[in-house]
Amino acid sequence: MYLDSEDEKVLNGEYGQTRQKMMEILVALGKVFGAEDLVPVSSAQVSGASYKTIGEWGLEWLNNLDARVVVPSVLNPIGMPRENWRDIGISVEFAEKQNAVIKAYKRLGIKMECTCTPYYLNITNYGDHVAWSESSAVSYANSVIGARTNREGGPSALAAAMIGKTPNYGLHLFKNRMPEITVEVEKGDGEYSSHYGAIGYLAGKAVGNKIPLVTNIRPSRDQLKALGAAMAASGAVALYHVGGITPETKLPAFSVKGSEKIVIEQSEIKELFSDIDVDAVAIGCPHCSPDELAKVASLLEGRKTSKTFYVFVSKGVKSSNPEYVSKIEKSGAKVVEDTCIVVSPAMDKFETVMVDSGKAFAYVPNMCGCNVRIGTLEECVREATS
Ligand code: F3S
Repeated sequence: MYLDSEDEKVLNGEYGQTRQKMMEILVALGKVFGAEDLVPVSSAQVSGASYKTIGEWGLEWLNNLDARVVVPSVLNPIGMPRENWRDIGISVEFAEKQNAVIKAYKRLGIKMECTCTPYYLNITNYGDHVAWSESSAVSYANSVIGARTNREGGPSALAAAMIGKTPNYGLHLFKNRMPEITVEVEKGDGEYSSHYGAIGYLAGKAVGNKIPLVTNIRPSRDQLKALGAAMAASGAVALYHVGGITPETKLPAFSVKGSEKIVIEQSEIKELFSDIDVDAVAIGCPHCSPDELAKVASLLEGRKTSKTFYVFVSKGVKSSNPEYVSKIEKSGAKVVEDTCIVVSPAMDKFETVMVDSGKAFAYVPNMCGCNVRIGTLEECVREATS
């Protein structure tokens, strides 16, 4: 793999041990995946931020690093809100460990935005090369924005953040970004027919890690977010296309490789929904957009919650929408920033959690050890206020 003279110096340890280690990670990855060189990145999003997921070993690894990031870099959700963590039942022991993780990342120069929706921070544009690691953010960056990123692990995203480059392979190369399978969604008019989390859940299971072209749908940006997040969770889809909607489908060179096709039937979508009893409701996976927050606020207007109802969001979106936040919280629901359904220990104590997200539907049983029910946003609000 070609390295320029500065990269060689980093690799030889001339800029310290941490940078050397980080360059070694990038070079090793590049060699495994056949990268010809490194490509500069304009931002990084680093996963492995919740103490629940990285534990003591991860914290120790971070504390031993001694260099700062060189491109705008943010974190994935951490295990609790930075303030008011007691409000969602986080223990003092966990909070102390989580605060140590935050301190470690701060020391490395990472911006304290803890979210899986870094695209709301406007840190990437069409055609940018980035190094993001949370699967739904990767999917959105590649598919909806038309930026280019592989699905990085926490360490490789951090390495890219510190070096400012990433190995140039996989989805960084246009030739690898064309769809390999068509997913046709049967038209329907029932209440679940446009549940993009459910559609994504089924599509991801069917296509695995292939790049799909999804047809017969006209999703909004928020629905694209839900679709991609679910496909990345039930499968390993890091890039998808929707004809005439996602940006790369409008390029003259866009073409589908092969003729493999599957159909998602309305009956399959319907089957995912049940009416089992739940003891908590959680939405905001991925973190809510301002529009989604507005919708929750209007659905909750004049109602009171009868069970735990968490709305997960980034700190930036929460603080710039105080009117929606106060409407939501007036009902008894909580708008929780920085953390999420899956990476926080807050959900682990419930028996059955209701979600509106295909991604949470896929992850909650294993990551939180509880049962899960999927519903529309309207159903979630009804269930939380019944
Ligand atoms: Fe985001 Fe957590 Fe869901 S990281 S996509 S809210 S599982």
